Amino acid sequence: MCGIVGGVGKLDLRTYLLSGLKKLEYRGYDSAGICYTESGKTILSKVAGRVASLEEIVPENIHPTVGIAHTRWATHGQPNAQNAHPHQSQRKIFSIVHNGVIENFRPLAHQLKARGYSFNSETDTEVIADMLERFYLRSGSVIESIAQTMEALEGSYACAIMFKDEPERLYFMKKASPLLIGMSDGCMLLASDPVPMVDYTDRFIDVDDGDYGYLTPTQVKIFNGRVEIEPRFVHRNVDSFRSDLGDYPHYMIKEIEEIPGVVVRLIDNYFDGEHFTFNESMIETLRHTKKIHFLACGTSYYASKMGAKYFRPLGKEVLVSIASEWAYDPYDITGDTVFVLVSQSGETADLIRCQKIINDRDGISIAVTNTKGSTIERKATYSCLLYAGLEVAVASTKSYVAQVCFLALLFAALENEIGVVLDIDRVVDSIRNIISRKGEIEALAEDCKEVRDAFFVGRGYDYLASMEGALKLKEVSYVHAEAYPGGELKHGPIALIEPGTLVVGLVSDPEVSSSIRNNFEELRARKGRLVIFSTAAVANENDAFVANDVKPYLAPNVLVVAMQYFAYYVALAKGLPIDKPRNLAKSVTVE
Ligand code: AGP
Repeated sequence: MCGIVGGVGKLDLRTYLLSGLKKLEYRGYDSAGICYTESGKTILSKVAGRVASLEEIVPENIHPTVGIAHTRWATHGQPNAQNAHPHQSQRKIFSIVHNGVIENFRPLAHQLKARGYSFNSETDTEVIADMLERFYLRSGSVIESIAQTMEALEGSYACAIMFKDEPERLYFMKKASPLLIGMSDGCMLLASDPVPMVDYTDRFIDVDDGDYGYLTPTQVKIFNGRVEIEPRFVHRNVDSFRSDLGDYPHYMIKEIEEIPGVVVRLIDNYFDGEHFTFNESMIETLRHTKKIHFLACGTSYYASKMGAKYFRPLGKEVLVSIASEWAYDPYDITGDTVFVLVSQSGETADLIRCQKIINDRDGISIAVTNTKGSTIERKATYSCLLYAGLEVAVASTKSYVAQVCFLALLFAALENEIGVVLDIDRVVDSIRNIISRKGEIEALAEDCKEVRDAFFVGRGYDYLASMEGALKLKEVSYVHAEAYPGGELKHGPIALIEPGTLVVGLVSDPEVSSSIRNNFEELRARKGRLVIFSTAAVANENDAFVANDVKPYLAPNVLVVAMQYFAYYVALAKGLPIDKPRNLAKSVTVE
């Protein structure tokens, strides 16, 4: 994970690097650091904790010519200042920031130790700095040392590199982790994604795997292997990368309340009032394939589970796999399968690995992502955007609803079922109603703020929504929460129910409402504390929150929004850092 930024040239580098890091904190935020050259001197500062703490120790009146900075999600070594990036080579001639994981760093460290190198940190990154130095001392060329280092490294990396004797040059190298170059007046910028750069430029280069090179204030040099590549800047609409809090206290609640607009925008993008407007060739491919296999992680995986249930009436085999599992057991790669890769960020490492496996075997993939220009979007056979706008909070909210509605629309397009659009319109109204009644959910959450464990229970579609509800609660509220299908409780989990154990029950599907109500009674008989979220058609008078009716196959989208508020308000009552929960990062860019 981790976010990197770098810049060279005529700009206020302190502002760019520190504000850029803040915008990248969604990629990790357990430590941060900066390195810059001013009047020929290289200055390094690192802290444990957030970028705000780093900002306090970087003097305001600096005028660097080149600089790099990093916000970290620890993979190797504790999140302390010593392990924070930038790291420097033994003779301090190279300073680098790195996003990725070096898989062979132990043997490389062993080799370096044998040559007299010692290490100041527990990270895999320090090895890269020392490898650069070692090759530089032999060749006398920075570019050659980068090429040789890349040949030696296994794993993933996007690195920005400063060389002590070149105060107006910023080097880079990239494999598997994302890296972009931005061009502005009199300066060149680097970052893990466009967000830090959008106030400076709308012209970018997506650095390709295997690329390395350097930036000067006015020039870009790119090499791949030993061949020089022509740099090609492309214009990107940067508006979609902006988001500010406005009057909201947190991005999570802001993004929950954007959901109705997101769903309306989604419909507008895929339905013109009479016809669906999906790519025709993609629709035909899906119609003719024998199998549809969804791959995703986390929230996107739960959304895919819902989508898969929609697709089952197509009479095809429909599978859903967790990307990190499938990547190590990639079954089902035949010409008969279309893979659907669902990802908010489009940069999730496990899913990128799956995509590479599919592409290497000439498989067909459809990317469903919120991020234009992301790796998943660029590398898929077909790609479809969610148009949900930038999602900043680590906890996915609007993306989940967009993903599920997208998959419902895609199914409708395959079956020419225009009625689905009207069904989704009602979802919008029902969610608006929930937003107007969020105070009721806040009161329920306030009552539950002391709980340590919670069970989310439902059947059918409601069980699928329970999984996402439980993930939200554990993620932002640090409550141990698990989802179970109502019928499974008696097969083991009910042993955990003690007097007062919180059970969040979901019921919206009339087909299963009487059986899930029986399960709720079994839990009550064991003195479980039930908080039931239902929809009007199946509501009981003691239910804690009753949402307006929508079609049962879409009801989870409505109840999930109530679950999102519930998790938000429990976290708020506990005074937790809602948008950046501990140990997490928005975009999981390491496997
Ligand atoms: C969602 O709340 C989580 N933070 C996480 O599970 C996320 O959904 C998962 O990492 C997948 O991310 P993606 O959709 O960007 O691929």
